[in-house]
Amino acid sequence: MSDPQHFLATLREDLDAARRRDPAARSLLEVALAYPGVHAVWTYRLAHRMWRVPTLRLPARLFSQFVRALTGIEIHPGARLGRRLFIDHGMGVVIGETAEVGDDVVLFHGSTLGGKSMRHGKRHPTVGDGVVVGAGAKILGPVWIGDGAQIGANAVVIHDVPPGAIAVGVPATIRLRPAAAPFDAEIDDPAIYI
Ligand SMILES: CC(C)(COP(=O)(O)OP(=O)(O)OC[C@H]1O[C@@H](n2cnc3c(N)ncnc32)[C@H](O)[C@@H]1OP(=O)(O)O)[C@@H](O)C(=O)NCCC(=O)NCCS
Repeated sequence: MSDPQHFLATLREDLDAARRRDPAARSLLEVALAYPGVHAVWTYRLAHRMWRVPTLRLPARLFSQFVRALTGIEIHPGARLGRRLFIDHGMGVVIGETAEVGDDVVLFHGSTLGGKSMRHGKRHPTVGDGVVVGAGAKILGPVWIGDGAQIGANAVVIHDVPPGAIAVGVPATIRLRPAAAPFDAEIDDPAIYI
């Protein structure tokens, strides 16, 4: 993503994704000005570019902590986030250093992609494309969340979740989606009910 035009196109995609995902959003201007989740993702994209330059790692960390103070959303600049991530409401979201997030993911407020150990190396989740993580859900450790999975509000996930599955409860148990009801992000995204 070294091309500035490509970078700007990515930021525009983030804006469009928030508008598309939130029926309460009335214009792109409103989303650009009033959505802390969008601000957090945009500033993460800048901080992540800084993070890739070894001498800029401390400034990148300080920048992301400054953004956390403004938005209530903490994204480590070392995390790897895909395209069109939408963080709805935002407050209390935490994304750890070695987390990886696919494309078209929705995270609600209070959700955590966190670690379970103090060891260095991969210790945070890998989240596939089209996953929805409900409010207050915690996904802990280097677990894998398959494409199109949904994590229920307040679930605590400590094991892998298969593609298209629904995980609810503490600790989370898996409920496979009926074969007759394949995942459809436009229908199943709980954000459409808000
Ligand atoms: C998990 C979720 C995606 C399931 O939605 P769904 O497919 O429509 O499932 P249902 O509501 O039919 O519930 C299915 C079962 O899971 C249970 N369940 C649903 N959500 C749950 C949750 N968060 N925690 C525990 N159990 C839950 C239901 O009680 C039901 O149990 P049963 O089969 O024993 O009766 C949804 O309930 C959810 O939590 N979405 C997150 C939404 C969110 O965070 N919104 C924030 C808006 S600000």
